[in-house]
Amino acid sequence: MNVFEAIEQRRSVRSLVPTEIPMEDLEKIVDAGRLAASGMNTQPREFIIITDKKIIEQLSMAQGFIRDASAVIAIVADESASRFWLEDMSASTSNMLLAATALGYASCWVEGTLLRVEDEAKKVLGVPADKKLIVAIPLGKAARAGSQAPKKPFDEIVHYDGIPAILLRISRLGDRGKRAKGKMEISVMVREIMSGCERITNYELLHAPDFGVRSSEFFLIPNSDAVLSACALHADRSRCEAFRVRNPKSVHSTLVANPSATSNSK
Ligand SMILES: Cc1cc2nc3c(=O)[nH]c(=O)nc-3n(C[C@H](O)[C@H](O)[C@H](O)COP(=O)(O)O)c2cc1C
Repeated sequence: MNVFEAIEQRRSVRSLVPTEIPMEDLEKIVDAGRLAASGMNTQPREFIIITDKKIIEQLSMAQGFIRDASAVIAIVADESASRFWLEDMSASTSNMLLAATALGYASCWVEGTLLRVEDEAKKVLGVPADKKLIVAIPLGKAARAGSQAPKKPFDEIVHYDGIPAILLRISRLGDRGKRAKGKMEISVMVREIMSGCERITNYELLHAPDFGVRSSEFFLIPNSDAVLSACALHADRSRCEAFRVRNPKSVHSTLVANPSATSNSK
């Protein structure tokens, strides 16, 4: 299994059945954690491989399903060694979850529930009081097939060359004839923008005074909160509409379909 397949297949499994996990596999998984990136290469982490059933049972005080694990890997971190200790530990955890997946084992990142019983768990594993024990990875075989928890869509969270912005159109209410003409031109322009917008080549076009749409103004603003307050400001004398722009640096190629963030009209 290559790394992309492992990323695709990894999921948090909280329903385990016993399976044989050779020590060689456990060490391979831990080695993936050892080899992870760390801030300034400080590597403030140690790993505990736990196969003793009694100890595993004790660790299930953090979360019940741990008792069904065939093995558990715990990470101990030295928070005094690096201000990046948490990130370093997380990098190791991610690597180990992927390695476990690649080797065919079910796993889960257990941290939230372990935190609540950290002191007791440290005693169980003989971890010194000044060290952190906040991640455990129970390993086993999945009791049933399941899928990864839903993830946000790619297009919603991936941006190119910059953060998303909002293109705000404010159509001022002028006299009747002008308004009708302005609205028509606006909708033509917006349609062009929406359909690939090859003709919108730069910001100047949007702001050009001779653009012909005197009753409208266009603003590129960086986030939807700003859109909301701008719309509120103009609500009494304008019609405001907002369009999401994926890449504020090149509007022409990045304006996305109108998610219609806000629309106020009077
Ligand atoms: C920092 C962190 C803490 C977590 N703590 C727990 C935990 O205590 N118990 C648990 O069952 N899952 C825990 N998880 C797993 C998440 O619930 C899981 O990753 C998330 O629901 C997405 O599901 P997936 O891993 O199947 O993609 C934790 C994950 C992370 C990254």
